[in-house]
Amino acid sequence: MSRFPDVSLVDVDETVLEQLLALAKRDASPDEVAPPLGGPGWNLERTAWFFSYHRAAAEGLTGDAAEKTWGILADGSLAGSIRLRRLTSGSAETGSGTAVAETGIWLGRSFRSRGIGSAAFRLVLSEARNAGVTRVTARTLTGNLGAQRLLASAGAVLRPDDDGTVSAVVVL
Ligand SMILES: CC(C)(COP(=O)(O)OP(=O)(O)OC[C@H]1O[C@@H](n2cnc3c(N)ncnc32)[C@H](O)[C@@H]1OP(=O)(O)O)[C@@H](O)C(=O)NCCC(=O)NCCS
Repeated sequence: MSRFPDVSLVDVDETVLEQLLALAKRDASPDEVAPPLGGPGWNLERTAWFFSYHRAAAEGLTGDAAEKTWGILADGSLAGSIRLRRLTSGSAETGSGTAVAETGIWLGRSFRSRGIGSAAFRLVLSEARNAGVTRVTARTLTGNLGAQRLLASAGAVLRPDDDGTVSAVVVL
């Protein structure tokens, strides 16, 4: 009988950081995890970005980076990562005078389509709520149906943009 995995979020310390990079290298596309820096694959530039990005986010939403990243644990295994970044102000898209944060998520391929992404997303919405955020935004590609289903199931309003992306807003 299938069951939903037990999903929790963990802080990204140096051990989790090494494990996340190993997971990303063996079980994800580099472009799902990091910006397209320095050419294909996990070149030096992309790897350096990965370390400095997560380390800068270690201080959390109130730190200089205004961002927090977590490792996603599923039944005790590291499955991927999710992030939350506080935006300075609302936009036309989200409304002014609101506390807005954006999110993004990736899972290792072998962890996908088992409800882990949806569970991690619910946990990050709860973190956002606790931090006083009132709207969470995300952006994904038009062809990324899994991400769009995940966002819609969490109550996001989706809007296709004319650059091949879809923007999503969850009102908390
Ligand atoms: C997008 C991603 C996070 C989704 O996480 P997941 O654990 O696979 O998703 P879930 O199993 O929780 O499923 C969420 C919903 O999407 C649907 N879904 C999952 N994979 C799908 C796919 N490949 N195609 C269509 N629908 C899909 C599920 O049926 C579910 O729908 P429901 O809520 O209506 O039942 C994961 O696939 C991933 O890491 N992809 C690569 C990185 C990425 O695209 N990140 C998102 C950028 S914003």
